[in-house]
Amino acid sequence: MDEKKVGIIGLGKYLPENRLTNKDLEKIVDTTDDWIMGRTGIKERRIARDDEATSDMAVHAAKMALKSAKLKPEDIDLIIVATITPDMFFPSTACIVQNKLGINRTPAFDVSVACSGFIYAIAIASQFIKSGIYKHVLVMAAEKMSSVTDWKDRSTCVLMGDGAGAAILGEVKDGGILSIHLGADGSKGDLLKMPAGGSRLPASISTVEARMHFLKMQGNELFRHAVKIMAEAALKATEPLGLKADDISLIIPHQANIRILNAVAKRMGIDPAKKVYLNIEKYGNMSAASSAVALCEAVEEGRVKKGDTILLDAFGAGLTWGAIVIKW
Ligand code: UT7
Repeated sequence: MDEKKVGIIGLGKYLPENRLTNKDLEKIVDTTDDWIMGRTGIKERRIARDDEATSDMAVHAAKMALKSAKLKPEDIDLIIVATITPDMFFPSTACIVQNKLGINRTPAFDVSVACSGFIYAIAIASQFIKSGIYKHVLVMAAEKMSSVTDWKDRSTCVLMGDGAGAAILGEVKDGGILSIHLGADGSKGDLLKMPAGGSRLPASISTVEARMHFLKMQGNELFRHAVKIMAEAALKATEPLGLKADDISLIIPHQANIRILNAVAKRMGIDPAKKVYLNIEKYGNMSAASSAVALCEAVEEGRVKKGDTILLDAFGAGLTWGAIVIKW
């Protein structure tokens, strides 16, 4: 019997209305629009309302994905949310989303893989469909990074944004996911982390006073790893298929820094202006949501057409990384 082909059959996104520009940030911390644009490629980012949590953004994106797949919530067999900014520790954000979608028997769980979360979640979802266990899996990547951002730390607060993307996976006749490469290196976990709030350092007055409930990053060191690892991951996903850089129509990467993406493209020998999808200017780094929203917008804008071979490529805290080749 032929193996099932699994593909993305619906996409959605949600970006909060509130825009925070570099000019706005100039009033909050000692920074400039020139520094932020020059070092990162970010012009503005979206910030969720106080009453808007990660699950709210995920639900908006999910509803759009359901519509685009012409499916109803009842058609979904499994719900996965990729997030490092869940509504709360438990219940999982996936269970909260499930309840909001009104499908209260559907299995649901979160994956905590930081910026690579969308790739990991797609990888997990695809196995359930390939094996015939489920027909349709709803994957969301949703982050309220503003809730873990230290607005007094200029080295990180200029980078992050909020948003959500969603994809529905199902069986397809042609193409679909051709290869998956995932990786992790826990020895470098200190490079990007939120130190307190877990079982190691539960919330206390001293952890709050020490600002330990915000993300901490060693940007420079992380930058070096990001370039190397994203280029390697791309190779690991494409090489087994015999694909060369020229065979990829578009790379849709995690949007951490335009300089990282240009350097990755250079290593791969491709023209970043033509073959790397970018929306970092509008949204900043939305962790797991970045590549999900980027895929949705690339398709909306006609940058991905039927028959195209695209590459999703992400890297983040953990460290974690992942790359997926999809024939659209
Ligand atoms: O999402 C996946 C994980 N994230 C990443 O992969 C991010 C990787 N890292 C980066 O994107 C970059 O390292 C940053 C954008 C975070 C920083 O860029 P950089 O070129 O590595 O700058 P730097 O950290 O080496 O800082 C250079 C200078 C420093 O001043 P001195 O020490 O040279 O006087 C910083 O204090 O820039 C200063 N600086 C700023 N100046 C103005 C740091 N942040 C700012 C700022 N505005 N917002």
